Amino acid sequence: MVFNIGIDLGTTNSAMAVYDDESESVQMVENFSGDPTTPSVVQVLEDDVIVGKDALANQERYPDRTLARTKRDMGSDTTYEIDGTEYPPQRVAGYILQKLKEDAEESEFGDDVDGAVITVPYYFGGSARQATEDAGTKFADLSVFRLMNEPTAACYAYGYQEESDETLFVYDLGGGTFDATLVEVTEDEIDVIDSNGDDELGGENFDDELYEFAREELIDRGASDPNESKHTKATLREKVKETKEQLSGREDAAIAYPTRPTISTRSSCRGLSSTT
Ligand SMILES: Nc1ncnc2c1ncn2[C@@H]1O[C@H](COP(=O)(O)OP(=O)(O)OP(=O)(O)O)[C@@H](O)[C@H]1O
Ligand SMILES: [Mg+2]
Repeated sequence: MVFNIGIDLGTTNSAMAVYDDESESVQMVENFSGDPTTPSVVQVLEDDVIVGKDALANQERYPDRTLARTKRDMGSDTTYEIDGTEYPPQRVAGYILQKLKEDAEESEFGDDVDGAVITVPYYFGGSARQATEDAGTKFADLSVFRLMNEPTAACYAYGYQEESDETLFVYDLGGGTFDATLVEVTEDEIDVIDSNGDDELGGENFDDELYEFAREELIDRGASDPNESKHTKATLREKVKETKEQLSGREDAAIAYPTRPTISTRSSCRGLSSTT
């Protein structure tokens, strides 16, 4: 069966959904590993390209071959060089879309994905929107029916369109960006009144702060500077991220770092009481 999907192509994580005719509801499509979201991470190896959880898990092993957070560069002239080949951000997004499409085709919803609606930040300009469309059409063999603004998609996802005439404020603190959007919802349409935010602020910035905190603590305790090795840096960064996420549900958490010292942090450290 041929079917269509909705894709949230995020800076940190991507996700898919379908409209299920039978239940008349939107359902998340799990990826091949059974997860509702797929890390937006691509690893270009000598003979293979890995996308998602496995790429994220191996980023410490292949720091120079791992491409992450590239959505921040969509529509710009930035390219990333690996083995003498230049990869523009839309090519990287293409790998992610291709993986999502393939995983959707393995799901219970159908065998062949024809097209997709892909979400983009409201602030994305013409070139970033074009790059997103190219990622789907040129690199993932996907018909892109529509690019939808993320806050509009959030309203659809929560079913607000069924309520008439409401003005909503949508907050989206993602991995790389923070947006706050005022949206007017009527029975017929969802209109963005205005949106603002910071496209350089997200969970990754919290990770940067926590990383610096942990790094200084380690150096104070006699460990070598984690910045001296890309591998160690990536390992510690992943550890502080895990710890940050634990702190959303707990009062304290420990950074289990694979050298001598273990640093205890409390959720009140440096004001980082909670994140997303
Ligand atoms: N339980 C949690 N507590 C705190 N932060 C969390 C938790 N779970 C995820 N995060 C953080 O949320 C961020 C990812 O959010 P999300 O998946 O919404 O981003 P995204 O949609 O990919 O990014 P963007 O919207 O900027 O494109 C990461 O920084 C991650 O560490
Ligand atoms: Mg997002």
